[in-house]
Amino acid sequence: MSLARSHSSIPTDTGWPDGSIAGVAALVRERAGRDLVALDRTFIQRCLERRCLATGLVGPEEYQDRLATDPAELALLVASLDVHHTEFFRDPLLHALLEERVLPGLALRKDTEGGSEIRIWSAGCAAGQEAYSVAATLLEIADAWRRPIRFRIFATDASEEQVALARAGRYTDASVRNVRLRQLRRWFKPDGASWVVGDGLRSAVDFSVHDLLDTASSSPPASIYGGFDLVLCCNVLYYYRPDVQLRILERLQACLRPDGFLATGDAERDVVLSSSVFQSAALPSSLFVRWR
Ligand SMILES: C[S@@+](CC[C@H](N)C(=O)[O-])C[C@H]1O[C@@H](n2cnc3c(N)ncnc32)[C@H](O)[C@@H]1O
Repeated sequence: MSLARSHSSIPTDTGWPDGSIAGVAALVRERAGRDLVALDRTFIQRCLERRCLATGLVGPEEYQDRLATDPAELALLVASLDVHHTEFFRDPLLHALLEERVLPGLALRKDTEGGSEIRIWSAGCAAGQEAYSVAATLLEIADAWRRPIRFRIFATDASEEQVALARAGRYTDASVRNVRLRQLRRWFKPDGASWVVGDGLRSAVDFSVHDLLDTASSSPPASIYGGFDLVLCCNVLYYYRPDVQLRILERLQACLRPDGFLATGDAERDVVLSSSVFQSAALPSSLFVRWR
């Protein structure tokens, strides 16, 4: 199984032998308490290449020596392994599909099911932009239909820091650049150089810390049970080893309704299709439907 590694321009073949990567991993585990075992090898290698470039050190051996003696470099390497980049309405095609088809369809389906709530999970939500984007879309559909739509959005991340940022809901000018002007006026309050999510949107999302690798619970404990109609797990699987990706997918499958939707990043499409549990809901998007 190979994923398209499209979002880096750094060449992959730079001679980081497995032994050197294992040496770095042992050092990181011992000194920083961070286990790299579940991470994708190519991803780790790229992080190491970037740090080598940044430090001016060319080879694995020199870099390993530096790591062993420089706690600041160790901290920078560990930080580079945590990628939290996200955006409001990050994938335009996915968000168009959610707005025009998936969310209205789920709302109508719930009507026929006695008015139960739409259950959504943003897994690996980083600073909350994905969950707030979906909440704004649902609230705007309800406005257009001139009636409330019952829904709950759970949003989780393994990083406590990211969850705190998401709850605070404070964003820079640059990070709201994908938000339409009317949405900015409607859902955000300006505060100095920031935009702060207003109560209408904030109260629509329940943020909590949850690790997708946690074997104790396959869905966020805050949700009590899974039963999700839509799970967004975008740009998270990418960083993991193929077998770990499949393990995470199994958990997501377990907490989705049989006809529920899964959204991922584009680079994760192949792994989802290889799991044989999901099929494309709308090519060429990275939206899938659980069919088993
Ligand atoms: C690149 S961001 C993607 C954010 C958002 N889903 C998006 O597509 O814009 C990946 C996020 O996944 C989180 N993450 C990585 N591994 C995780 C895990 N095992 N459990 C929960 N969150 C995880 C990271 O902390 C990070 O905030």
